[in-house]
Amino acid sequence: MRTIVITGGTDGIGAGLARHHLAQGDTVVAIGRDEVKGAALARLGGHFVRADLSLVAENLRVVDLLKSRFEAIDALILCARYFRSHRYETVEGFEACFALEYLSRFTLSHELLDRLEAAPAPVVLNVSGPGAPKPEIRWDDLGFCRGYSGVEAQFHAGRANDLLGLAFATEHPDARTKYILVNPGSVASSFAGEFDPETAALVQRMKRVATPVDRIVPHLAALVDAPPADPVSAFAVSRRVDPRMSEVDDRAAARLHRLTTGLLRH
Ligand SMILES: NC(=O)c1ccc[n+]([C@@H]2O[C@H](COP(=O)([O-])OP(=O)(O)OC[C@H]3O[C@@H](n4cnc5c(N)ncnc54)[C@H](OP(=O)(O)O)[C@@H]3O)[C@@H](O)[C@H]2O)c1
Repeated sequence: MRTIVITGGTDGIGAGLARHHLAQGDTVVAIGRDEVKGAALARLGGHFVRADLSLVAENLRVVDLLKSRFEAIDALILCARYFRSHRYETVEGFEACFALEYLSRFTLSHELLDRLEAAPAPVVLNVSGPGAPKPEIRWDDLGFCRGYSGVEAQFHAGRANDLLGLAFATEHPDARTKYILVNPGSVASSFAGEFDPETAALVQRMKRVATPVDRIVPHLAALVDAPPADPVSAFAVSRRVDPRMSEVDDRAAARLHRLTTGLLRH
C-alpha cells in the first residue's frame, strides 16, 4: 500500500487521481481549502488536510504535518491551481498564481524529498503544461506587477514549473525520486477561479469539448505506477515531450532556482 499526497486533491484532476488511488488501496492525502469537498473524499477513505497553499507558511506547516505522520511518501502529485482574472497579492506579498502554482510546488518538492527517498519507487508528478509554447520567465517582474493577465500568469507559472523539474534533477543528482512534468491537455475539471465575464464564457465553452476527468486519470496514474528511468521527464498526456523549450533552459532553471531560494528566505 503506497502513500500518495495530492495537492488540489479535492477537485478536478487531483480528485480524480485521489479516487483512483483510493480504489487501488493506497493511502491518499488530499490537500485543499474546501471542507465540504474534503469531507466527501474522507467518506471514500481519504485523508483531508485543509491548507491555503498560496501561503509559504501553510506549505511549511503541511510539510511538518506530513513528516510527522508518514515515514515515506511514494508519490507527490501537484495539482492545486486557482485562476484569477485580476491580480491578487497574498498577505505574504506574493502574486497569488505564482505563489500557488509555483512557489508551493517548489517548496513541497524540495522539502519532502527525504520522505520520498524513503519510498521504494518515488515520484513527483507535477501536473502543469510541458510541451506547450510559453513565455520566458519575467526575470525582473516574477510577481506580474506590470501587465498582469490571468491567462499569461498561468502560462508563466507553467514555464516556472518546467524549470523546477529541470532544477530539481540537477539539485539532487543522487536522488532516486523521478520528477515527471505532465500536461493533461484540455480537461473538463472544476476550473476553480474568479473569472471576468469574457473568460468565464470561454471556460464554459472549453469545458463542453474538453476530456472528462475520469478519462485522463488512467494516463496520469500510469506515469506514477511506471515512471521513466530518467531523473526528469515530460509528457503531453502519455506522449513523451522535451521538458526543455531551448538549449539554454538548464541555465534558466539554475537561475530561477537561485532566485526562488532567495525569495523564500525573506
Ligand atoms: N483542466 C485543464 O484543462 C488543465 C490543462 C492544463 C493543465 N492543467 C493542470 O492540471 C492541474 C489540475 O487542474 P484542474 O483543472 O484539475 O484544477 P481544478 O479543477 O481547478 O481544481 C483545483 C484544485 O486546487 C485546489 N486549490 C485551489 N486553490 C487552492 C489553495 N489556495 N490552496 C490549496 N488548494 C487550492 C482546489 O481545492 P479547493 O477547492 O478545496 O480549495 C482544487 O482541488 C493544474 O496544475 C493545472 O494547471 C489543467
